[in-house]
Amino acid sequence: MSVYVITGVSKGIGFELVKQISEDQKNIVIGLVRDKAATDKKVAAELGNRANVHILHGDLTSHASLTEAAAATNKIVGDRGVDYLIANAASLPHLDAYDPISYLGDKVEELEKVSAELFHTNVIGNIHLFNLFLPLVLKGKVKKVIALTSGHADLDFINDLEVENSALYAASKAAMNVIVAKFNAQYKKDRVLFVSVSPGLVEVGHFANVTPEQMQGLMGFMGKLAAYAPDFKGPTPVDEAIKTLRSTIKEKLSIENGYGGAFTSHLGTKKWL
Ligand SMILES: NC(=O)c1ccc[n+]([C@@H]2O[C@H](COP(=O)([O-])OP(=O)(O)OC[C@H]3O[C@@H](n4cnc5c(N)ncnc54)[C@H](OP(=O)(O)O)[C@@H]3O)[C@@H](O)[C@H]2O)c1
Repeated sequence: MSVYVITGVSKGIGFELVKQISEDQKNIVIGLVRDKAATDKKVAAELGNRANVHILHGDLTSHASLTEAAAATNKIVGDRGVDYLIANAASLPHLDAYDPISYLGDKVEELEKVSAELFHTNVIGNIHLFNLFLPLVLKGKVKKVIALTSGHADLDFINDLEVENSALYAASKAAMNVIVAKFNAQYKKDRVLFVSVSPGLVEVGHFANVTPEQMQGLMGFMGKLAAYAPDFKGPTPVDEAIKTLRSTIKEKLSIENGYGGAFTSHLGTKKWL
């Protein structure tokens, strides 16, 4: 039996994590979302009435909402604490997703707005999350804090493949990786694992409504991925991707195995696909 707290479970990877982890009725899964009513409805429709799933309001851009979520979690879990804190929620903008950085040159207001939102959500939001939930993690048995990051933040990946797109998103994840390492620097001695893990390229419908121009940028990126990993067949179905991710988190990622503060992939390596 383990207790999980996962942010951003309204859809995508977060929802799939809740689905798979709560299949074992002994696990307790607490999911944080911005829209609780909509997620309650989705959980009821797709997972049925699972007594071990608790959906709480938690917006990474609101310290007050995270404070309330931590207090509500404490009431649910009591002395068991939290075994796994999974910082999954993130801002994933479309602005920078398909084009090289020069595309942003004359989009001054959009660039500043999206960059502020990215830093607020993906970096500051997770600092608040970690600080507020740490007392519960320290009470837990497993003590693993996992932040979902991206291979986009790897400098060798950017430089070797000349990956031009997703500049702002990548920078926010690089900043988050540093924050995760700083938490590791402080809490490794308390046996808390802080680690940043990329899930690989996972199919969650991000590109369902792209324009023909955006699709062209996307195809250029996919072409580079095919050269990087010749066995790459496109984004991994979310159920399969989460099985791999869960196994790596559980079996491989530990302080003993040298992952404290690391930036690693779903395979526990620097192989991003
Ligand atoms: N899919 C991939 O291929 C891939 C690859 C590398 C890394 N990742 C990482 O994996 C994680 C999950 O990504 P995904 O693909 O599942 O994306 P997604 O489907 O867009 O889900 C993102 C989740 O984050 C939530 N969120 C956004 N802003 C928030 C905020 N301010 N407060 C709380 N929740 C917020 C969203 O909630 P709303 O419904 O309220 O918007 C949603 O539940 C992210 O950290 C992403 O960077 C994904």
